[in-house]
Amino acid sequence: MLKTLDPQLVAFRDDVLSGLAAPIPAIPARWLYDHRGSELFDEITRLPSYYPTRTETAIFHEIMPEVAARVPKGAVVVEFGAGSQTKTPILIEAISPAAYVPVDISGDYLEQSARDLQERFPKIEVIPVVADFTKPFTLPGGVEHLPKLGFFPGSTIGNFVPWSGTDLLRHFRNLLGVGAQLLIGMDRVKPVDRLIAAYDDPEGVTAQFTLNLLTRINRELDGDIPVEAFRHEARWNDILSRIEIHLVATRDVSFTISDRSFSLSKGSSIHAENSHKYGQRGGRVLLLAGGWTPLVEWTDPAGDFAEILSVAEPERFAP
Ligand code: AVJ
Repeated sequence: MLKTLDPQLVAFRDDVLSGLAAPIPAIPARWLYDHRGSELFDEITRLPSYYPTRTETAIFHEIMPEVAARVPKGAVVVEFGAGSQTKTPILIEAISPAAYVPVDISGDYLEQSARDLQERFPKIEVIPVVADFTKPFTLPGGVEHLPKLGFFPGSTIGNFVPWSGTDLLRHFRNLLGVGAQLLIGMDRVKPVDRLIAAYDDPEGVTAQFTLNLLTRINRELDGDIPVEAFRHEARWNDILSRIEIHLVATRDVSFTISDRSFSLSKGSSIHAENSHKYGQRGGRVLLLAGGWTPLVEWTDPAGDFAEILSVAEPERFAP
């Protein structure tokens, strides 16, 4: 089958087949974002109960003069992810970098958003890089000598368990080098009812977003999962400080994917996403463990969301 030569499709199939065969069935959250998934996520960011996007955007409007005072002029901004149409321009407007390098695995979306941004900021060099930002890659030529600012907004770090999140932060440090800065958004721990409402909205958009994963598996991996036999569930896992999204089987189900058979009993689930929430000290310890020293932390007045600027300091002997 020619289809299987597409490396993305091979990776998707490997993750789904091994994830569903695991003792606790789970599929990595990145596969939620096909074209339809990205559209639905966009809709999620506008829901009344989904506070992170609008809160982080409001923080950006407040803090940019302070960010601009701390980030050297003529820097290169390396954004991990394709970039949001609202948040990225606020940063670029404020710090006038020499270059902007968005890094994303999805080429189509990346090209389009890079073109839009280039049109809006004709003086900045926009250099999109198609790559999986969790894996090693090299920065485009010509930006090595510029001061560097990594940009990782949206609380995407929350999708990673702290173990792999720390690896990711270390990998950012290796890529950007000593002296680089990192501006990162983290969602804060808050009362459980608000967290659940954000991930299980009354409009049902988040449920559609999660269930779309099953539709995608059926379409791309030749599956026959009965989608109507699953429901979306958002759970708060307090000891691990995270929202977990599960697809719960509402009856005993059997299905095949790429000629492999699977069955789930009623009430068991496929774990589809984690969204870790950090307290003020915990978030900074995560950064420190990943090689980034916090310089300043800003939040909205309610303390719902945090934006942290940190620096990759040279290694030192322990005192
Ligand atoms: C894109 C990972 C930041 O965890 O809040 C939102 C994804 N999933 N609603 C989040 C998401 C369901 C989102 N992140």
